[in-house]
Amino acid sequence: MRKHSVDEDVYILAIESSCDETAAAVVKNGREVLSNVISSQIALHTQFGGVVPEIASRKHIEKVNQVVEEALEEAHMTLDGITAVAVTYGPGLVGALLVGVAAAKAIAWAAKKPLVPVHHIEGHVSANFIENKELEPPFVCEIISGGHTHLVIVKDYGEFEIIGRTRDDAAGEAFDKVARAVGLGYPGGPKVDKAAKDGDPHAYEFPRAKVGENPYDFSFSGLKSAVLNDINRAKMTGEEICVPDLAASFQNAVVEALVSRAIAACKEYHYDQLAIAGGVASNSALRAGMEEACRENHIRFYRPSPILCTDNAAMIGAAGYYEYINGVRAGWDLNAIPNLKFGER
Ligand code: KG4
Ligand code: ZN
Repeated sequence: MRKHSVDEDVYILAIESSCDETAAAVVKNGREVLSNVISSQIALHTQFGGVVPEIASRKHIEKVNQVVEEALEEAHMTLDGITAVAVTYGPGLVGALLVGVAAAKAIAWAAKKPLVPVHHIEGHVSANFIENKELEPPFVCEIISGGHTHLVIVKDYGEFEIIGRTRDDAAGEAFDKVARAVGLGYPGGPKVDKAAKDGDPHAYEFPRAKVGENPYDFSFSGLKSAVLNDINRAKMTGEEICVPDLAASFQNAVVEALVSRAIAACKEYHYDQLAIAGGVASNSALRAGMEEACRENHIRFYRPSPILCTDNAAMIGAAGYYEYINGVRAGWDLNAIPNLKFGER
C-alpha cells in the first residue's frame, strides 16, 4: 500500500521543460499550489508552424533559472524551505527535457535536497488532485495529450492499469495535423476548438473507427485522413471548405470516440469517478460532452482548469509529492528519457 500523506508539511519545487513550456512551481502537500509559473514558447514556434526542438531547448536554457526564481518568489519561499526538487525526466523532446533535468540536479545538489524524478504523464493525471481535494484513487482517467491517448485505471497514486490506448495518432496530434491542413496553424488544438464554436458538427460526415478486439483502444489516423481527403478534393474541384463546419465535425468525431470509451470503461469496471488529463482535456466540446455523459450515467466527472491541462509544473509538483512520500528518489546521474514508457521507471 502506498502512502497517501505524511505528518510534516512537504514543499516541492517542481520543474517542467518537456516540450514548449518552461515551467516551475511550488506545491505544498501535493495539492496546494503556492506558485505556478509558465513561460510559453508559442509565439516563438508559430512562425515555423510547429515546435522546433532545437529552438525549444535553447529557449528553455534562457528561461529555466528565471522561472524557478519567480516560482520561489511568488510562493514567498527560499530554497531552504523546500523539501525536495521534482523534475520531469520523460517522455518529451530530449534536448528540452535535459535542460529541466540539469537545472533540477544543480539546484537539488547545491541546496542539499532530494531529487524526485517525475513521469510527465503521471503529472498530467495528478493535475486533477490540485483543484479536487476530495479526489482519491481509484478512478478511471482518460489521458489525452499531444503524444498520448490512454485510458487507464488509477489504482493508487502513481499506480496505473492501462486498459486502452491509441493504435496510431494521439488525439492531440490529430488536432494539430487537421489544424495545419485547414490553415489554422499552430497550436492546432486551441485553434480548432475556437473555429468549431461557429461550425455545425454534423456538416461533414466522418468515419468512426472500429479498432480491433479491444473496445477501449483508439484510432485517429483514419479520421485525420478523411478530413485531409475532403480538403484535397475541395482544392481540386474548386469547392470552398467551410473551416468552422469542418473543425466542428472533426472535433465532434474525436469527442464521440473519447466520451464513449471513457463512459463504457467506468461502467464495465464499476467506477463512479472519471477524470480527464492532458492538453486535449482543455477542449471545450470535450468537457461539455463528457460532463453531460457523466451526469446521465451518475459518474462524478473531474477535469483540471484549462491552464492545468496543458503543460505546467504544478502538476509535476503534485505527482512529485506522492513519489516523494513513497521514497522515490533520483541519483545525480538522472538522465532525460525521451521515450519513457508509461507505467515504467
Ligand atoms: O499535454 P500537452 O500540453 O502536451 C503533451 O504532453 O503532449 O498537450 C498538447 C496537445 C496539443 O496537441 C494541442 O493541440 C492539444 O494538446 N490541445 C488541444 C486544446 N488545447 C491543447 N486540443 C484540443 N482542444 C484544445 N482546446
Ligand atoms: Zn504534456
